Amino acid sequence: MSRLIPHSEQRTANDQMIKSPRGTRDLLPPDTALWNFVETAVRDVFRAYNFHEIRTPIFESTELFARGVGEETDVVMKEMFTWEDRGRAESDRGQSLTLRPENTAGVVRAYIEHKLWDRGLNKLFYIGPQFRRERPQKGRYRQFYQIGAEVIGPAAAGSQSPARDAEILELLATLLDRVGITQWTLELNSVGSPADRAKFNDTLRQALAPAVEKMCADCQRRAITNPLRVFDCKVPEDQPIIETLPTITQFLNDDSRAHFEAVKQILNAVSIPYVENPRLVRGLDYYTHTAFEFTHGALGAQNAILGGGRYDGLSEALGGPPAPGIGFAIGEDRLVLSLTASAESVLRKPDAYIAPLGAGMNREAARLARELRRHDLVIDLGDESFRLKKSFETADKMRARYILIVGENEVAANAFSLKHLASGEQVTVPRAELAQQILRK
Ligand code: HAM
Repeated sequence: MSRLIPHSEQRTANDQMIKSPRGTRDLLPPDTALWNFVETAVRDVFRAYNFHEIRTPIFESTELFARGVGEETDVVMKEMFTWEDRGRAESDRGQSLTLRPENTAGVVRAYIEHKLWDRGLNKLFYIGPQFRRERPQKGRYRQFYQIGAEVIGPAAAGSQSPARDAEILELLATLLDRVGITQWTLELNSVGSPADRAKFNDTLRQALAPAVEKMCADCQRRAITNPLRVFDCKVPEDQPIIETLPTITQFLNDDSRAHFEAVKQILNAVSIPYVENPRLVRGLDYYTHTAFEFTHGALGAQNAILGGGRYDGLSEALGGPPAPGIGFAIGEDRLVLSLTASAESVLRKPDAYIAPLGAGMNREAARLARELRRHDLVIDLGDESFRLKKSFETADKMRARYILIVGENEVAANAFSLKHLASGEQVTVPRAELAQQILRK
């Protein structure tokens, strides 16, 4: 005989708690106040540098990343969320799609698709989620957020100038300063032109030949297909071998050197400190010339708060016209982790909590709330069924500055009791003067 089990006692596989997928997380208040603080500040900075927002799709065709980011990169080989479209239309079916692991390829695709070269130099920024199937740890997630920018356009519009590289780096210093992050180090390198890299790759292949058998399987493959990617290896046993490899610096031709020198001269002129790191090659294949990362000591193993560089050949690799470009992406999760400001300190608390007292007062409270919110005040309100004590407790808990009582007598007099919660001071204020009184801190 089956027994009816009360719903609250049922424990079947079906009602086990559903959690967010591994490597993803919910951002909840009050922490979201920090995210908003960061995003508002960076939008202000972008405005000052005449950058404009671009929003590209969260998924793109897989080929975009294979061609743009590079087949041999860890991102493309191991980390992408890719699926085959099951669309009803014949044209969709079987198309391989991928959640974007980064946004530069998408921006350059949009540049080509919309012929943005007609606009001269494009200074674009984006804020949004990216997806990589990485092993989750502090500062490393499978859905993470980037704040990025790209400067791209025809060479005639100045896109190739070292002044653009320096402007991007100076913008970043300003931006970090603006959100209160001071403990950063700018690591700078030049990965040269494609021709410089071809020479470097040949030399690397030779240098790796005697040792490669002792290295990890990934490095054995990289040594043949794309030796530069050996520098991305994280396997501890391989590091002594990697440390003996030559660096790209000695393979830079005169133009590459001149470009790098010009960037550094402007940085010196605007007093942006940097350290040169000849082993910094970045994990994505599209980079040419300037490559950089900003690191932050407090972040632990995942210490790169942002990365970027120049990608003068990317547009052509994606079937577009020559369009030199440079950009960066900040890991917003990591930026928020390194903030010294607390969520509490940037959270805007209610200016007033309205306590409707007794039947029929909800509608009076709603009218008053509507009037006060028009003055850019943050207003929250309770319910006419609450006792005054409960309203006070609620107002206290949300740390409202004032509590405003709306009862029958107040409505009749068109004047309301306004109590300052911290000092306990209480005054009766005519309706027309309420907003002014609340604005007075
Ligand atoms: P990236 O170095 O691959 O470059 O990523 C930039 C930043 O995103 C990293 O420095 C890090 O802060 C953050 N990030 C990357 N993966 C994760 C993750 N799994 N969890 C949390 N944060 C992460 C790019 O994506 C290039 N598109 C940057 C660029 C723009 N280069 C030129 N223009």
